[in-house]
Amino acid sequence: MNQPNEGPTLEGGFPRRGIGNPPHVAEAPNETIGTLLDRRTIRRFRDEPVDPGCLDVIVDVGLRAANAGGCQAPILLVSQDVEANLMLGRISNDLYDEGYYPVSSAQPSTACMAGRRNAFYDAPVVITVFTPRGWSYAPLDAGVCVANMMNAAWSLGLGSCVVSRAARTFATDAGRGLAARAGIPDDYEAQVHLVVGVPESTDADPRGLYPNRVAWL
Ligand SMILES: Cc1cc2nc3c(=O)[nH]c(=O)nc-3n(C[C@H](O)[C@H](O)[C@H](O)COP(=O)(O)O)c2cc1C
Repeated sequence: MNQPNEGPTLEGGFPRRGIGNPPHVAEAPNETIGTLLDRRTIRRFRDEPVDPGCLDVIVDVGLRAANAGGCQAPILLVSQDVEANLMLGRISNDLYDEGYYPVSSAQPSTACMAGRRNAFYDAPVVITVFTPRGWSYAPLDAGVCVANMMNAAWSLGLGSCVVSRAARTFATDAGRGLAARAGIPDDYEAQVHLVVGVPESTDADPRGLYPNRVAWL
């Protein structure tokens, strides 16, 4: 899936032609690029709260993400409710049905571990992005929003992990009840979660890129 052809065919020089990845950025030209290059998914968290000021920054950054038509369709549920997060994390875990394969040995995921009980990895903060039901740009809006927040978290020394299955998790009776208790309007549906916490470790498996992911004309 990741390999448009058999071997690199990228011609040297500019403008680039053919298929191939550009050279890896050896030294980030600024702090923002450094954050984007260095960020890794964190699934091992310390049993510590997230600094409230940092959390406000992350959420503000999420709200200010680019959004389709300037409609600001995404709304956020930020939960620091330990019981609610555990309940939803277990539901999300039970909904995981994609088989087990090695995503990360340093930060093992539900995909790596049969029997993990909390798909939110006991993170102290779970942010869920909701969008209006039937909104054409729902996955894109939610993806941009969550990407902004995870990069913001990393830049503040915090770890985060995107967690899928949010729509199905919030479609359960327990999920619906929680959304209603939190004041999320009924005509919004959950798109994606971002779990955030203080990293227990920032260890990560080396990130090699699949080759030939870029075609140049
Ligand atoms: C759309 C999307 C869905 C993801 N879903 C999950 C998930 O349900 N559980 C999980 O542990 N990680 C999830 N991840 C995290 C990916 O596994 C992770 O980003 C990927 O392995 C690359 O690692 P990196 O973020 O350290 O570069 C998801 C990431 C994205 C972008």
